[in-house]
Amino acid sequence: MIFIDSKQRVFHLSTKKTSYVFRVSDTNHLLHLYYGPKLNDPIDPERVELRHMVELGNSTTYREETKPFSLNDVLLEMSTFGKGDYRDPMVHLEFEDGTRVSDFLYEDYTVTTGKPPLNELPHTHPDQDEKIETLIVRMKDAIVDVTIELFFSVFDQKDCIARSMNIMNGSKQKTIIHKAMSFNFDHFESNFEMVTLDGAWIRERHVTNRQLGYGITKIDSKKGVSSSDHNPFLVLKRKNTEEQMGECYGFALVYSGSFEATVEVNPHDMLRVLMGINSFDFKWVLSQGDNFQTPEAILTYSNEGLNRLSQNYHDLIKQNLVRGAWKGKPRPVLINNWEATYFDFNESKLLRLAKAAKKLGVELFVLDDGWFSSRDDDTTSLGDWTVNHKKLPKGLENLSRKIKKIGLDFGIWVEPEMVSIKSRLYENHPDWAIRLPNREPSFGRNQLILDLSNVSVQEYILDSLRKLFNESKISYCKWDMNRNFSDLFSGNLDMERQSELLHRYVLGLYKVLETLTKEFPHILFESCSSGGNRFDFGMLYYMPQTWTSDNSDAVERLKIQYGTSYAYPPSTMGAHVSSVPNHQVLRITPLETRYNVAAFGLLGYELDCTKLTRFERKTIKRQIDYYKTYRSLFQYGDFYRIKSPFEENVCIWMVVNSEKSEAILGYYQILSKPNPGYEKMKTLGLSENKTYNVQTRPQYINLHSFGDLASRVLPISINSKGIIFNILANNHLMNQEVESHIWTGDWLMSDGFTPMHQFTGSGYNEFVRLMGDFGSRIYHIKEIA
Ligand code: DGJ
Repeated sequence: MIFIDSKQRVFHLSTKKTSYVFRVSDTNHLLHLYYGPKLNDPIDPERVELRHMVELGNSTTYREETKPFSLNDVLLEMSTFGKGDYRDPMVHLEFEDGTRVSDFLYEDYTVTTGKPPLNELPHTHPDQDEKIETLIVRMKDAIVDVTIELFFSVFDQKDCIARSMNIMNGSKQKTIIHKAMSFNFDHFESNFEMVTLDGAWIRERHVTNRQLGYGITKIDSKKGVSSSDHNPFLVLKRKNTEEQMGECYGFALVYSGSFEATVEVNPHDMLRVLMGINSFDFKWVLSQGDNFQTPEAILTYSNEGLNRLSQNYHDLIKQNLVRGAWKGKPRPVLINNWEATYFDFNESKLLRLAKAAKKLGVELFVLDDGWFSSRDDDTTSLGDWTVNHKKLPKGLENLSRKIKKIGLDFGIWVEPEMVSIKSRLYENHPDWAIRLPNREPSFGRNQLILDLSNVSVQEYILDSLRKLFNESKISYCKWDMNRNFSDLFSGNLDMERQSELLHRYVLGLYKVLETLTKEFPHILFESCSSGGNRFDFGMLYYMPQTWTSDNSDAVERLKIQYGTSYAYPPSTMGAHVSSVPNHQVLRITPLETRYNVAAFGLLGYELDCTKLTRFERKTIKRQIDYYKTYRSLFQYGDFYRIKSPFEENVCIWMVVNSEKSEAILGYYQILSKPNPGYEKMKTLGLSENKTYNVQTRPQYINLHSFGDLASRVLPISINSKGIIFNILANNHLMNQEVESHIWTGDWLMSDGFTPMHQFTGSGYNEFVRLMGDFGSRIYHIKEIA
């Protein structure tokens, strides 16, 4: 709800549990008053406004008549440069006369029901009958005819506010935008810690916690994609805030290109957060009558800890960002051939893989890189999206038909934003690649990026993919993007507009994605960028899921998925079981643990399932059955973080349905501890008034895990190095302990359930929980009548 006190010129944006309040000052600036727990009382701005009654030494006062008012000492909703506010500004413009000072003053406002769509940019929207209100506040520069609209959309039930800005040039002169952030958030004190999701390739979105000091703390990407270095997301939390308690503010940008986010603490301990398109090497020429829309940013507040903040974002992503036929729909269990074959495959190999996968219960076959043109390694062919006849002489259509006949849907990998130097496309259109006319280009994975700011390039991509999708009856598409930008230059843009290239590229990409997803609504798109190099809110608007990371090691994935969950729900995270030793870290983890981690995401298998032992086949079949039984819970349940792999030797998380009648808990141990103490599994999100049965997912252990001790756990004496033992181990499913007990909800949430005691080296029977290094369990929790 939006409440406006026109007399006092106060705007109160109110959600289920939060209030956001600002007012128009006597000088016509927008002063921020409050963001925090919901306020019911009308605000008296006189009482809450912070201002000095005398001029501070060495300060710049705004105007003689309004002394001692100084823009440097107040909390603002939008800020500019040049009138005495010395913090980093939200907006920095240059006018044709060479001046760079602007001063935007309040004009008027409108409130609309719903949400005006943001031109060409991804954005949140109301879910079905949900009532959303948007406040648009118009500000105008005191001298030049440039207007700014500030958008505030209130998602009442999600406790989220979507903010963005539109700059309109009504003057006859050109205006240059040097910086246009999506929002400005000021707070009167800075006693916060900053939490960000940082990383690198195969180490994405690790949780980083840092103290704020005086000056500016910044995360950004200059890579042209949002990148795995820092996710376009940050949290400010109080020092004592934990997962389940305490205050925190969240800020997330709905954008997939270079971004910046700064948190500034000024000498008076006031804090400013800015987030938006990276202003480094950015310059946008706004001609007369043009407007510039910034990406949307989503703000949320929680005084119930970080987990609540994450759930606000999860709900918003699931209901208000993701669109189309796959929104809220069960996602298929897939097999991907990449780690099974890399570039080395032919039709019969793929069909064998598909048949074996079908027997395991897989639903979708994904043909990864290498199926087109002369693509036998990563040095060639990107851009030529026609079949590789050497590998698939009968064509892709034929393969797709055969895969469907086996009983699997058919999906395909593409990397349409790229071009290889060795390709027909590059031969015909060298000018379509982003590179400088006078320098040798720098490569990433041997490839160049196509200039998506160019409409002809957009059309080429659309035409190639339309043909591919139609001819081969594609049900799923993995959209990859494997390099960062360099050598920025576009032959398509005037000299004065070269610094617009990265943003124009993103707009071009969004246009292509909007067109394709509209034309092929049945296709399930999964975005990917060397794993999670472009895992952001912007991509999720077009593609409802993302390949979380190229790292599929179960232990590494604990951190990656745990960190990712700060902003993104399990229904957005592609998660695969792969072979061991793992291809990224060479670690050997149990098959059950690889599954137990991947199941808390969108489950897939990425291994050669024609080479599985009988033990592995039987185990995987049971895993997939279990996943299908509880798929909606795994994919769409409310996600709770219980123990962090960044802080402890264990990781625990769980998903709970909205009725609180069913839940699944995942428990993971990194290294085993000899002779450990007792453990209790405290749960979250259940109902204190309900009673539940807690049951272990039946898991199997391979006899090899016992080594020389095998004879002790088997009824017969056997040589653990011998052939017979090997045969036995590859065939026999040895049950692990299964517990099934009734617990009350209040007990489960106050004290937790007590699993059987872990193996201590002094004996083994069905009442011993054998975890070992990298051991894990899944517990199913179901309300009983
Ligand atoms: C990078 C992706 O992240 C991988 O999953 C795989 O698709 C390769 N590209 C293929 O080149």
